[in-house]
Amino acid sequence: MSKTTISQIHDHKDQEVTLKGWLSNKRSSGKLHFWELRDGSGFIQCIIYQDNVSADVFELGNKITLESSVEVTGMVAEHPKKPGNFELQVKNLVLVGDSPDYPIGKKEHGPDFLLDHRHLWLRSKKQWAIQRIRNTVINAIFEYLNNEGFIKIDTPIITPNACEGTTTLFEIDYFDNPAYLTQSGQLYLEAAIAAHGRVFDFGPVFRAEKSKTRRHLTEFWMMDAEMAFCTLEENLEIQENLICHIAKKVLEKHRGDLEILERDPAPLEKLKAPFIHMTHSEAVAELNKKGSDIKITEDLGGDDETLLTEDKDLPVFITHWPKDIKSFYMKRDENDKYALCADLIAIEGFGEIIGGSQREDDYDELLKRIKEHKLSVEDFQWYLDTRKYGSTPHGGFGIGLERTVGWMCGTKHIRETIPFPRMLNRMRP
Ligand code: 4AD
Repeated sequence: MSKTTISQIHDHKDQEVTLKGWLSNKRSSGKLHFWELRDGSGFIQCIIYQDNVSADVFELGNKITLESSVEVTGMVAEHPKKPGNFELQVKNLVLVGDSPDYPIGKKEHGPDFLLDHRHLWLRSKKQWAIQRIRNTVINAIFEYLNNEGFIKIDTPIITPNACEGTTTLFEIDYFDNPAYLTQSGQLYLEAAIAAHGRVFDFGPVFRAEKSKTRRHLTEFWMMDAEMAFCTLEENLEIQENLICHIAKKVLEKHRGDLEILERDPAPLEKLKAPFIHMTHSEAVAELNKKGSDIKITEDLGGDDETLLTEDKDLPVFITHWPKDIKSFYMKRDENDKYALCADLIAIEGFGEIIGGSQREDDYDELLKRIKEHKLSVEDFQWYLDTRKYGSTPHGGFGIGLERTVGWMCGTKHIRETIPFPRMLNRMRP
């Protein structure tokens, strides 16, 4: 008898194995109990046939309740009508930990109930599939950046600097001094490019978002990348290739998971670089034609993002935004009118997933902006130093992990893409 996992079960055809996992579903008919067992690596049907087991084991098969942990021993058999599908013909069962009255059942539960039980909801099949895809997206990002010569630089979580405006800061008391939870590690990466050229970070970031939308979390994961001697065009090329790499890895490894999620893979299969590029003015003109009343001075709302891409197979980079609605650190065009930046808008209504820009590399101009934005020159002196000692043209971007995972999975609400979501009205469990 050998020990194995469900994902390896094909190597054990016609052998006896013991699987350790949880009972995720069951039904009975006369002399048969059909169990669905989950062990983390996958799901398998286990057949408990009265004539194959002792009376005690058959009774146990009847009594054990959903989500109990169990050890199941049996013969691995290939499904007679579905080659490549395996089931376990059970010989013995051991109850490890019982699970009376498991609160999540087959009936529909509302989102609040499920979020209150997130610690258990994570076991459900769709949630299981989403977290597996999240894992692949994370690994794909690391893989792509390592291949492109980026060095991982871990940026701090506690910081005196507001990177993305002062309205969404989480303030903490740092030994009687105010400090903030980071909104993005970008500013620190800008310092590290002078040591390493191409760098990235990947970690949790925090924004006190007061809006309750399906695209906003207050704690989410972001990968920031930063490159020395880089133009906006090179920056966008890296981004589109990164997205194609992520989609390729998800398609390679997760056909089954996408099926569980009822996610049509076709839109992901069609992704290829280059993506669509348009300026903010062009995007606004197209949106006005499509019926939106967005103005030339305004940011796109979620509905605008969906409207803009509804007839497109490829994501859209919106470049050259009015300078006043973008961050202080962004470089501007020669007429000082537009920020040299780009937001990447995913297709299928998944909205903005990347924000990036060329950075202001001139000391005096940056100092002026810091003052205009009423940020503390003292707290930003270290950042200004990066423009004093060997400043270079440079740029970078930040990709939101949860929005990217949501898009890959076809999951409309971002709260399902992170194990334990933090939102305006939720920080438990
Ligand atoms: O566009 P953002 O604010 O860009 C920055 O923070 C830059 N400092 C990044 C950089 O250039 N290094 O955020 C980047 C991405 C967004 O495109 C979005 O995917 C995600 O982070 N994001 C959020 N995701 C979930 N919940 C929120 N509240 C988010 N805010 C931004």
